[in-house]
Amino acid sequence: MKKFRAVSGTISVACVLFMAFVLGLLVHARNAGSVTGQDSEQARERDKRVYTNDDFPVSEAPPSTNGTDSGQPAAGPSRGERVAPYVPTPMEIVDKMLEIASVTASDVVYDLGSGDGRIVLRAAEKFGARAVGVEIDHGLAVESTEKTKEMKLDKLVTIIEGDLFQTDIRPATVVTIYLLLSTNDRLRPLMEKDLRPGTRVVAHDIRIPGWEATREATFNVGTVPHVVYLYEIPGAFRKPAVP
Ligand SMILES: C[S@@+](CC[C@H](N)C(=O)[O-])C[C@H]1O[C@@H](n2cnc3c(N)ncnc32)[C@H](O)[C@@H]1O
Repeated sequence: MKKFRAVSGTISVACVLFMAFVLGLLVHARNAGSVTGQDSEQARERDKRVYTNDDFPVSEAPPSTNGTDSGQPAAGPSRGERVAPYVPTPMEIVDKMLEIASVTASDVVYDLGSGDGRIVLRAAEKFGARAVGVEIDHGLAVESTEKTKEMKLDKLVTIIEGDLFQTDIRPATVVTIYLLLSTNDRLRPLMEKDLRPGTRVVAHDIRIPGWEATREATFNVGTVPHVVYLYEIPGAFRKPAVP
């Protein structure tokens, strides 16, 4: 009887140890699974490609441009500064901006601070216009250049990686902007100096201080109102021709 008790005691202890071992394995497997789950969640978040200024610090921007007659960048001493955060214009509003500016295939559209290139790409794709995007942020400039190639619009669209204040905007017949009020204020004298009479300037949400809009229209995207301002450069801004 004693022997029987000893054997059954040993079996019980062995059973308890075995169950503890199996439980340990289960807990380990569960933890490993949840780490993998977290990883794929993080990967999904990355794939959403939602950008903030932190994703593209200004310090990553390349040397900015001085501009040339062709509108192409030239090496310059200043890197420029980021004068507005990246907030993309909804595509519905992009279309409204281009329609309000009456863009056609004869136009040259400049988007100053072109973000992911949506305005210049749309101007080329939908209206056949030539278009130039100027973007200081390296990541966005690379992304929009790649998109231009993917969409086979590189004959019409040029992305300049550089500072909008140091880019030659004289070839533009249409300028689009979605910048801050203080930036528009700084940009106004440059546009008055360099843009030719008849050039249309379209501003999303933020007006140009000191200018009177030819047209102002509000469009809702969902419940969010977006204002589009149209300005036309009058002959009065014309600079005397340089001999
Ligand atoms: C509000 S977002 C508008 C983007 C695009 N135009 C749109 O409507 O979707 C402003 C853009 O201006 C760019 N930006 C800011 N400062 C700049 C500068 N000095 N030169 C060129 N681009 C600049 C930002 O990186 C950002 O992409």
